[in-house]
Amino acid sequence: MAKFDLIVIGAGPGGYVCAIRAAQLGLNVACVEGRETLGGTCLNVGCIPSKALLHATHQLHEAQENFETMGITAKPKVDWSKMLSYKDDVIGQNTKGIEFLFKKNKVTWLKGWAAIPEAGKVKVGDEVHEADKIVIASGSVAASLPGVEVDEKVVVTSTGALALEKLPKKMVVIGGGVIGLEMGSVYARLGAEVTVIEYLDRLIPGNDGEVAKTFQRILKKQGINFVLGAAVQKAEVKRNKATVTYTLRKDDSEQTIEADCVLLATGRKPYTDGLGLEDLGVTLTKGGQIETDSQYATSVAGIYAIGDAIAGPMLAHKAEDEGMAVAEILAGQAGHVNYGVIPGVIYTTPEVASVGETEETLKDAGRAYKVGKFSFMGNGRAKAVFQGEGFVKLLADAETDRLLGAHIIGPMAGDLIHEICVAMEFGAAAEDVARTCHAHPTFSEAVREAALACGDGAIHA
Ligand code: NAI
Repeated sequence: MAKFDLIVIGAGPGGYVCAIRAAQLGLNVACVEGRETLGGTCLNVGCIPSKALLHATHQLHEAQENFETMGITAKPKVDWSKMLSYKDDVIGQNTKGIEFLFKKNKVTWLKGWAAIPEAGKVKVGDEVHEADKIVIASGSVAASLPGVEVDEKVVVTSTGALALEKLPKKMVVIGGGVIGLEMGSVYARLGAEVTVIEYLDRLIPGNDGEVAKTFQRILKKQGINFVLGAAVQKAEVKRNKATVTYTLRKDDSEQTIEADCVLLATGRKPYTDGLGLEDLGVTLTKGGQIETDSQYATSVAGIYAIGDAIAGPMLAHKAEDEGMAVAEILAGQAGHVNYGVIPGVIYTTPEVASVGETEETLKDAGRAYKVGKFSFMGNGRAKAVFQGEGFVKLLADAETDRLLGAHIIGPMAGDLIHEICVAMEFGAAAEDVARTCHAHPTFSEAVREAALACGDGAIHA
């Protein structure tokens, strides 16, 4: 048995960041992780491997669609098992990186699955360790859907979708959210006929409606089929083929579609199995999230929780921020997360990125706002790289010009959004961005032009 100031449960982006920051602030820290490698869902079976496959298949798309225009002759051929080993290499480099950071910061990795027999104690395997404070960062797992049994071979979650044995010819994606569209893009670029079935009448709920429409149009042009307003009822597998049954909400008619792979991407739920929270008396919400106060404290003294296991968007960077904040709080500092400025990014081509209010939320709140919009068609750099589709849309307060939100669909949107995040953190006005010199030729000029469009008008529109 060992005694620590802090034991963090889970080494995903929330947990490992919390452990490292707490160690940097002088605490004696251990982090429990049951996987063979550190990094949680994000590094092992989520953000990082999906980005490797998105990158590889984007290169394939470039070679197939745009090389000839640029005077390059090449006939690309896909070696799927090699593409998977490239993805696995990327995972390995990243997970080993966290191991190195643990050693560097003197964080002890307790290998195994944790349980909390009582406040102040964490059981890993047969050993019980003591800790003044415990932070639960146990993450999330794919939510299930009645009638759809996951076997991770024919019917897969995002985990199985990152390691398919062979490339599917026909794929059905259940859910037009982030995972469905990122992984759907990967397999569409690899030649599969992909159909996305979405319950709502639009894609990416919660995002700006205009962006969602443009996104759907662009993805359709890339060959992805969409069935919107349709509730999936079941998926039946026979001899490695699936039949998916869904009901069209407009007329209640029942339809079926066949596929050799079905991706279930209808959301995720908190993962707290085996921790013993019920016996401890830790209060959960109806959705199974751990209830916390503004300091990330649970209902049991000395036990804290962060990341996907608590309320809020299930995003790695939200978990990281909470990890840093709770470490600072436990070290006697004033940790804080600004939930109004958490960007969201979808890593398709084009990328989709957003932060802050949408037109929909502003209308609901009855707040007067103005819109500054600029199309990437007016951006020289975007046209040079075949990415003139999409736009930057900034929302600013009608009276004060203060930036309230940004929605970008276009090249490098996931990087461009941070200029607006910083501006929002500083309470900037659209005019502040408009008066900042932006290098030419860059994609970020489109952000400045959108800011100019909030005032006297963009130059290249
Ligand atoms: P999601 O919540 O983004 O989308 C799920 C979609 O499934 C929704 O549009 C919903 O209306 C639809 N749906 C639900 N039941 C259905 C049914 N019976 N039939 C048809 N459609 C149905 O969830 P997703 O894509 O699974 O992602 C899970 C979480 O992981 C999200 O919180 C997401 O933000 C996060 N994530 C973030 C990434 C990023 O930041 N790039 C990448 C991957 C995941």
